[in-house]
Amino acid sequence: MISLQYIGHSAFYIKTGGYGILIDPFITGNPKAVFDLNNNIITNIFVTHGHGDHLGDAIPLSKSHNAEICTIFELANYCMSKGAKAHGAGMGGKIDFPWGSARLLPAFHSSSTPEGYYAGMPASILFDINGTKIYHAGDTCLNSEMKTVGEIYKPDIALLPIGSNYTMDIEEAVVASIWLNAKEVIPMHYNTFDLIKADALKFKTSIEALNKKCTILNPGEGINL
Ligand code: NI
Ligand code: MN
Repeated sequence: MISLQYIGHSAFYIKTGGYGILIDPFITGNPKAVFDLNNNIITNIFVTHGHGDHLGDAIPLSKSHNAEICTIFELANYCMSKGAKAHGAGMGGKIDFPWGSARLLPAFHSSSTPEGYYAGMPASILFDINGTKIYHAGDTCLNSEMKTVGEIYKPDIALLPIGSNYTMDIEEAVVASIWLNAKEVIPMHYNTFDLIKADALKFKTSIEALNKKCTILNPGEGINL
């Protein structure tokens, strides 16, 4: 069984077997985040890019849980320079784990370290957990690389930003769901703060009109796959 829990913003927690996978763990800095840091196993941490609302608590959690951060090469080096355990990868590289695999794929955005230095390319991440494919889009605009992801990898579930300003908006995320060939979508990166306010119910209505499933999760809620 795989459980997928929404922590808030772009942070998710996947539990499978004895493994706990955190994605973009912006937790202590986000008052709306819901996650029990003391009673959840953390074995792997993935970070789409270096911005604070994605790197979040990755470095301290890597140290406290001896969990490896998997991210783009330059950002992995940055994490290691701060004492974290990290694994650097490049675009398109498949990284194997006991629970499945992950692949860093394009995202169109920017990326910098907390000090403002270059942090490599921002990424989206495709997880394949025992054949269930979960695509986390990271921060991105709508881009035609998503057509390739849809054609080659056919994600079962796509986690898509809808908040605009820093990423695509609702209308573009609807197009992304088509291009990604995703059967189910979960909105993210909205309503954390005023600049990224979005109406998730409006998104859900548009997705359902395409005969796709849209699951709106409040922080702390999750689904089983
Ligand atoms: Ni960002
Ligand atoms: Mn962001």
